[in-house]
Amino acid sequence: MPENSITVSENFRRTVNSFYKNSKKKNSNNIPNYNIHLDKVIEATSKRLTFNHSYKSNDQPVCRFLNSCIKNAPKKYKVIAEVTQQIKELLYWKVNDNYKNVYPDHFFQNESFVEIIGPSGLLICPNIRVGFLLLGKDVLYPSHNHEALELYNIISGYSLWQINDEKFAKKSPGDEIFHDLWMPHSMKTEEQPVLALFSWSGAIFKEAVPII
Ligand SMILES: [Fe+2]
Repeated sequence: MPENSITVSENFRRTVNSFYKNSKKKNSNNIPNYNIHLDKVIEATSKRLTFNHSYKSNDQPVCRFLNSCIKNAPKKYKVIAEVTQQIKELLYWKVNDNYKNVYPDHFFQNESFVEIIGPSGLLICPNIRVGFLLLGKDVLYPSHNHEALELYNIISGYSLWQINDEKFAKKSPGDEIFHDLWMPHSMKTEEQPVLALFSWSGAIFKEAVPII
């Protein structure tokens, strides 16, 4: 681990805490689980968290797009882009085992996520997960669901997102997408890779499952 890893991870925690506090101010709505989720994430990231000394970095094929996603993040995300640039060498990118032998190889070349704050994150937190989803170009992330509540905030790149059987809707940096308990969702990219911040609360130990 580089010497300043603890400082960098604390910067990330403080940055996402401010990010979610701003989100709460800007996006008030009356979806009960959205508000429960956001409050939990804000509370969990508001205090110093234990640094996980056994966390090791790991890349996936889609990481080839990470630098361009950071570079292409809009100016309003300068702070989060900078902190992502600082923390990127530390991150353990992974794929969900439930998708293996279900989704095509193209998916595994173009999708990965990283838990930065969470039970097995770089910063240990028992009740939420915060990290990034990275999607490459021209990839479909087929419909899947999970019990955990989930909030996505698009940081870089545009993409198309679907909830249940609704039409895919275009989402750009600054947009957020909330998935309530077990809500089926799917996303796809076209010519741009996408970096999105995600947070989970509730049943965070049960990974997503594909809907076949
Ligand atoms: Fe999800």
